Amino acid sequence: MKALVLSGGRATRLRPITHTSAKQLVPVANKPILFYALEAIRDAGIRDIGIIVGHTAEEIMAAVGGGERWGVKVTYISQEAPLGLAHAVKIAHPFIGNDRFVMFLGDNLIREGVTEVVQRFEGEQANAHIMLAKVPNPQDFGVAELDGNRVQRLVEKPKEPKSDLALVGVYLFDSNIFKAVNAIKPSARGELEITDAIQYLIEKDYAVHWHLITGWWKDTGKLEDLLEANRLVLENIETRIEGRVDESSCTDGRVIVEKGAEIVRSVIRGPAIIGEDCRIEDSYVGPFTSIYNRVTITGSEVEHSIVLEDSCIRGIGARIEDSLIGKNVTVSKDDGRPRAYRLMLGDNSDVSVL
Ligand code: G1P
Repeated sequence: MKALVLSGGRATRLRPITHTSAKQLVPVANKPILFYALEAIRDAGIRDIGIIVGHTAEEIMAAVGGGERWGVKVTYISQEAPLGLAHAVKIAHPFIGNDRFVMFLGDNLIREGVTEVVQRFEGEQANAHIMLAKVPNPQDFGVAELDGNRVQRLVEKPKEPKSDLALVGVYLFDSNIFKAVNAIKPSARGELEITDAIQYLIEKDYAVHWHLITGWWKDTGKLEDLLEANRLVLENIETRIEGRVDESSCTDGRVIVEKGAEIVRSVIRGPAIIGEDCRIEDSYVGPFTSIYNRVTITGSEVEHSIVLEDSCIRGIGARIEDSLIGKNVTVSKDDGRPRAYRLMLGDNSDVSVL
């Protein structure tokens, strides 16, 4: 079997972070989201991985390279515009050939991995296998309507969903999917939808199997989902202190302090991770926080947040919570006069002040 990982797309819901970087490379618990997908595919025994890339191709290629780090072989397939998931399948045909394959959306995180479903799909007669999850907001996803054990209908982001079963962004196909993606027409949002392609298979009586996933699953397209994914991954970390924690600091619960990091007169309450070469001084870092490499936090409190590399948080009088702070950002207290907020924010930023 082969794998196809989708890592293009515009990611408008995570702007301004995604103005300058790919959403699939935003770190969750200090590891790019995309790497979780590559690990899951490698763990399932697949070595041949195609990655669909768009306008962030360079950045994705720099991060993933040829796949050597995972012992896999990566082939890049360039999509000239984000024309939909089914369009991505279409242009991947020369790479996939007649093989069966797993398609993994590069911004999806799935606890159970794909090992079992890949084994199952290798053994079963199905032409496609979809994974479903019960969600409170089905209107934001592809939604499945079942008739007993059979998938009856799939609808992309219906206004009035007929079930609460969302399509997880991991799909298994045989080569009949290429007939489907060539037959369907673009949706109202102008994209070739994978949901419509699978619906085509259902209508032509191909075998579309499904299963309900057991562990958690997150599509990290929005800030709150990203923070939740970060929380879910941090729940499973084990304490590892490779940096320096001075005697006036304390770490509570499960905390990772990477090498070169220094914790000075501070409290780190886990689960939390502090990246390489960070400096945390006279500060509090609370549960469910991931601080990426080379961040400085002084005289401040941060909780339930993700802070990207090279940023600096200084002397903030209130606690920073539920936040995603980009690369190379400075957030500081200003005691100058007149007393005012002084901001330089990127397009589409979102700031709440006290
Ligand atoms: C895509 C699919 C949708 C699926 C979702 C899973 O939506 O179109 O059917 O439920 O991924 O993450 P998108 O995130 O591209 O809007």
